[in-house]
Amino acid sequence: MICGAGGQLGQKLIGAARTLENVRIFAYSRSTLDITKPTELRAAFAEAKPDVCFNAAAYTGVDRAESEPEKCREVNVEGAGRLAAACYEAGVGFVHFSTDYVYDDGYNRPLQEGDRTLGTSVYARTKLEGENTVLKHHPDAYILRTSWVYAEYGQNFVRTMLRLGAERDQLGIVADQVGSPTYAADLAAAALQLVNAAAPAGIYNFSNCGVCSWYDFAHAIFEMSATDCQLNPICTEQYPTPAKRPSYSVLDTRKIGRYVGTPRNWREALHECLQKLS
Ligand SMILES: NC(=O)c1ccc[n+]([C@@H]2O[C@H](COP(=O)([O-])OP(=O)(O)OC[C@H]3O[C@@H](n4cnc5c(N)ncnc54)[C@H](OP(=O)(O)O)[C@@H]3O)[C@@H](O)[C@H]2O)c1
Repeated sequence: MICGAGGQLGQKLIGAARTLENVRIFAYSRSTLDITKPTELRAAFAEAKPDVCFNAAAYTGVDRAESEPEKCREVNVEGAGRLAAACYEAGVGFVHFSTDYVYDDGYNRPLQEGDRTLGTSVYARTKLEGENTVLKHHPDAYILRTSWVYAEYGQNFVRTMLRLGAERDQLGIVADQVGSPTYAADLAAAALQLVNAAAPAGIYNFSNCGVCSWYDFAHAIFEMSATDCQLNPICTEQYPTPAKRPSYSVLDTRKIGRYVGTPRNWREALHECLQKLS
């Protein structure tokens, strides 16, 4: 059972599950299952009778969340918790997704699952509270923390860069925030492998390997897509946003790597996504 099936990750989870044999997929986008609505949840559970449920539904408008904290919390905490509780009661496995934003932004080495958490924006705090609520209601759940997610569809940095690169002669892109991009297809495959491997429950980081700034990421997107647009590095203060972003969010993926293998490099994954787009 896949919730939030209309999103970037949800669509990739459907694709990854289709490659498995003897699996029936019940995929629900927001229009068929709003995870904040208990009656819709009961109906979907009665229909799907799942063995495992993947929750790709989330309020992901990081900046919008600053002015809509209750709406954000309703999905990322209440909805996720209700889904986790329903799964636990029915003996259904549960896989939930979270974010690098939950980590304390005070580290200068790859972030490990046991590191301090904080959450400096509404979105980050609701995702952190969501993790705790999920684990409270479903102690056997998997939580995958990920970062800088993109796919051929949806709202993401890759598509924004391609659009802006076609419209403008030059762009200023933040160069003092570093992290690791994650191709949603790789995240979806890893989530399925983690379940198949019967890995121990708990929190796992997942991103593609390698480190870059948003500027480096944009540079690679333009280089690989032969986009003719000049890029200028800028600092965070020159691009103010309502929600604060971490300056360092590189995830240490060794824990999940033991069960699903080492994630491929972000450039290789980006290349595949851009090829599919073209
Ligand atoms: N995108 C990133 O860069 C990023 C980074 C780190 C972690 N994550 C996490 O990764 C997961 C997947 O994110 P994504 O990139 O696939 O996000 P996405 O493309 O925005 O997909 C989220 C989906 O959830 C749906 N949704 C929202 N509220 C819902 C509700 N009440 N009931 C059911 N569905 C609902 C959305 O539907 P509508 O479109 O109709 O609103 C959307 O289809 C999320 O947990 C997110 O927090 C994402």
